[in-house]
Amino acid sequence: MQVKTFEEYQKTYQYSVDYPEQFWEGIANNFQWRKKWNKVLSWNFSEPNIKWFEGAKLNITENCLDRHLAENGDKPAIIWEPNDPNKESITLSYKILHEQVCRFGNVLKKNGVKKGDRVCIYMPMVPELAVAVLACARIGAVHSVVFGGFSAKSIADRINDAECKIVITADGAFRGAKQIQLKEVIDDALIGCPTVEKVIVLTHTRTPVSMLKGRDLWWEDEIKLVDTNCPAEEMDAEDLLFILYTSGSTGKPKGVVHTIGGYMVYAGYTFSNVFNYQPDEVFFCTADIGWITGHSYIVYGPLSQGATSLMFEGIPTYPDASRMWQVVEKHKVNILYTAPTAIRSLMSFGLEPVQGVDLSSLRVLGSVGEPINEEAWHWFDENIGKSNCPIVDTWWQTETGGIMISPIAYVTPTKPSFATLPLPGIQPILVDEQGNEIEGNGVSGNLCIKFPWPGMLRTTYGDHERCKLTYFSTYENLYFTGDGCLRDEDGYYRITGRVDDVINVSGHRIGTAEVENAINMHAGVVESAVVGYPHDVKGQGIYAFVIFPNTHNDEDLTRKDILQTVTRVIGAIAKPDKILFVSGLPKTRSGKIMRRILRKIAEGDTSNLGDITTLLDPAVVEEIIEKAKK
Ligand code: PRX
Repeated sequence: MQVKTFEEYQKTYQYSVDYPEQFWEGIANNFQWRKKWNKVLSWNFSEPNIKWFEGAKLNITENCLDRHLAENGDKPAIIWEPNDPNKESITLSYKILHEQVCRFGNVLKKNGVKKGDRVCIYMPMVPELAVAVLACARIGAVHSVVFGGFSAKSIADRINDAECKIVITADGAFRGAKQIQLKEVIDDALIGCPTVEKVIVLTHTRTPVSMLKGRDLWWEDEIKLVDTNCPAEEMDAEDLLFILYTSGSTGKPKGVVHTIGGYMVYAGYTFSNVFNYQPDEVFFCTADIGWITGHSYIVYGPLSQGATSLMFEGIPTYPDASRMWQVVEKHKVNILYTAPTAIRSLMSFGLEPVQGVDLSSLRVLGSVGEPINEEAWHWFDENIGKSNCPIVDTWWQTETGGIMISPIAYVTPTKPSFATLPLPGIQPILVDEQGNEIEGNGVSGNLCIKFPWPGMLRTTYGDHERCKLTYFSTYENLYFTGDGCLRDEDGYYRITGRVDDVINVSGHRIGTAEVENAINMHAGVVESAVVGYPHDVKGQGIYAFVIFPNTHNDEDLTRKDILQTVTRVIGAIAKPDKILFVSGLPKTRSGKIMRRILRKIAEGDTSNLGDITTLLDPAVVEEIIEKAKK
């Protein structure tokens, strides 16, 4: 299934456009199905209704585990590197991982989890997280992993939206020098979650936790009560595999739904091709499993291909800025997949942390989550890849399930800051505001996809209308990505960033409306407006313009209070980098906040604010500009 040369890529790409169903059928044949499909694809983008491999039966864990046992049972499936470099790393072979998944699958069943039930997972980056995810898939339950940085309220919202029956968590998590009290956060969340019957708690940090009789159970006790015989549940290709919540430009985060057959095929296909994975190589994706990158390229993609996936509990700068490179050296990593924000952060420490570390095992480098600036690209290329490793700048989204536009390592000539070309099977199109196709090269527009691919979202959980409105209604018959994009003279794609009210902070999507709602919950705050602005390390920072709440007169303390509120409502990841107190916001006569103006001010570019005479109160702009300068 791997494309080997650029000519082959071009031919395969053309074939995939001319004969998409035959193309995907060929890819799907590389996986193990209990029963093959009656129909490869049925679709329309108007409802939308998308079905891949209809009628097929499978279990994704048979593809990720069982099918590797005969020949590769002793091969490392997961290598785990702990936060603390002085602690032992752990290797789980395919055989052992299979055993643990089966055992934990039985724990879930014993606790009443049935096919189709939703399970919330809020765990540190430990092997048991992968075990929990796969155990759900084994028994046909739907997992909803929530990133460890979200607040109790955010978790409660997600649990209630999906009506989760059970929560899997740990006492706590280590992140660099910090400890996060996961169980405590869950306890707070569950005050408002009537559907949750049981909580399974893994011991990890050994921090004291309260265990509620009748509800809370220890992981370690539970696994002793069951055996390792857990036949995989037979699932339909279009049954739900997981829900993953992501921010949009309006309202609460939505639960992006992925289904089993198509997602599996797409995660496996993209993993194998983009990274040019070779047997016995060690693949290191630095994402957290709480995000889609971790789902697709720590768990499902690599394991479906029988690869060795390295899972790192810590952060790149702990105990010092050489840690990520130390991990590469220690485990002889061949493929390193990380985010521009990590690269930029490590760049700022200079070359010393890189020197003296043996990075010669590296063969492919990857980037994901946000546009990679040229400086970071070159630094990564020269100092980490030693100008000898292709960099795959992979563009994709939670909704796409896997990589969409990206170089294929050792196949596609790369170009700094370009995601280059669509993978075979992917048909991007640029459109103008009216939805007219912008043809030719050397053009820019809004990025849409005009034909389905197996890994695409099927719906947003519990609210299909929202899925339709968000992705399929802006332009008729197209999936709208929310990204702006340039196609250069060579036909290469460069993603220029979101064109909606979503900010990309350190590769994490945050909706401005969500942050505004959180700020507005703070006592005394009347109104606020949040925009993104360029940030050296994070890519984008969060800039909040807030009408000063006249609760008390200490601006500094009020600022900290507001940060506290945002942390409580969403989580620390959504804390504004800057809060500017203002007496009013620039609004049109109809009362709409002119974010365009605020964006310019936040960027520090006030030379050309455009026409502001139509504003309700043009003087407010002067005031904001003056205050922002200070
Ligand atoms: O704006 C694009 C940006 O991240 C968004 C998707 O975010 P999320 O669903 O959280 O998934 C992140 C990991 C797949 C996109 O709409 N983005 C992602 N990758 C790139 C990117 N922007 C530019 N270049 C990329 N390689």
